[in-house]
Amino acid sequence: MINEITLEQQNTVEFIRAKTDEIRAAVGEGIAINALSGGVDSSVVTMLGHLALGKQLRTVFIENGLMREGEANRVRSLFQELGVTVEVIDARREFFAALKGITDPEEKREAITQTFYKEVFGRIVRESQARFLLQGTILTDIDETVAGIKRQHNVFEQLGIDPQKAFGYKILEPLIQLRKEGVRKVGAAVGLPAELFARIPFPGPALAARVIGEVTPERVDTVRKATVIVERHLQHTGAFQYLAILHLDRVTGMRDGKRDFGQQIEIRCWDSKDARQATPTALPFDLLRQLGDEITASVPGVVSVTYNIASKPPSTIEAI
Ligand code: XMP
Repeated sequence: MINEITLEQQNTVEFIRAKTDEIRAAVGEGIAINALSGGVDSSVVTMLGHLALGKQLRTVFIENGLMREGEANRVRSLFQELGVTVEVIDARREFFAALKGITDPEEKREAITQTFYKEVFGRIVRESQARFLLQGTILTDIDETVAGIKRQHNVFEQLGIDPQKAFGYKILEPLIQLRKEGVRKVGAAVGLPAELFARIPFPGPALAARVIGEVTPERVDTVRKATVIVERHLQHTGAFQYLAILHLDRVTGMRDGKRDFGQQIEIRCWDSKDARQATPTALPFDLLRQLGDEITASVPGVVSVTYNIASKPPSTIEAI
C-alpha cells in the first residue's frame, strides 16, 4: 500500500529534501540513469535526480519514433539551459519492429514496455554499469494498473514483477506518493520552466496510445501532425488534457472532385482534476470548426474529424 501525500499535506520544500536524500543514499557512489520523455513526471524526476546526484546521473531521451513533433530537440535544449545534459538515443527501428502487426491495445503496451525496459534500456544500463533507474511513476499510474483498467507502461512491483530480476536494475520512484498537481508543485520548486511543469499530461506509450490498430511510422506521423494542430488551438482553453486519435475505420470523403476513402481523426479535450474522472470540455463550436478545417486541409489522408463527448468513466482519456 502506498502512502498518498495529498496536496493539502504536501510540504514541497521538505519533500524535495527528503527525496534527494533518499536518492543519494540509495545510489551511493554508483551511477543512476533516467529516461526523460519531456512529460511532467519525467521532467520533475530528472531535476530531483540532478539535484541529488549531479554527474552521477545519466539522463537519456529515447527517441522511440512515437513522440510529438520536434520533442527530442526541444527537451534537450530546455534541459541544457538548466545545466542537465540529455543524450538522445535513436531507437525508432526497434520500437517499430516490436509494434509491427500488433493491433490489440494491451499487446501494444506490452511490446513498448518490453522494448523500452528490456531491449533499449537494458542495453544502455549494461553498457553504463548503472544499477539504478530513476523513474517518474505517480500514484494515478498505480491505481489504474492495479484496478486492471490499463497496464501503465511504468508499473512493475504492484504487478508482482521484480525489475531487478526481470531487467537487471533497481527502479527508484520518488514521485510515487503524489498525483499530478503535487508533481507540478515540485516541478515549479526545483526550477523547471512552466513550459515543462505545467504541460498537459502525456502517456508513457506516447502517440501509440492514440493510434487505433497497427502502429506504423506513417500512421504515427498522421496522428503527430493532427496533434500539433490540436495542441496549438487548445492550449489556452485551460483544459486538463487534449489530444488527437487516429481511427482504424475509413470513411468516404471527397477531394478535388474525386472519391477519397480516407482516415478519421477524433479530438478529445478533457476537464479533470487528477485524470481519475474526466468530462469533455464544452469547447466553442467555432473552435471545433477551425480544428476540423485545419486538420482536413493539412493532414494528408484525413477526411473526417470528430469530437468525443463521452465522459471517463466509461471512456478513458487515451484511446488504448
Ligand atoms: P487513461 O487513458 O488511463 O489516462 O484515462 C489517465 C492519465 O494517465 C496518462 N498516462 C497514461 N495513460 N498509459 C495510459 O494509458 C500510460 O502509460 C500513461 N502514462 C500516463 C494519460 O495521458 C492520462 O492523463
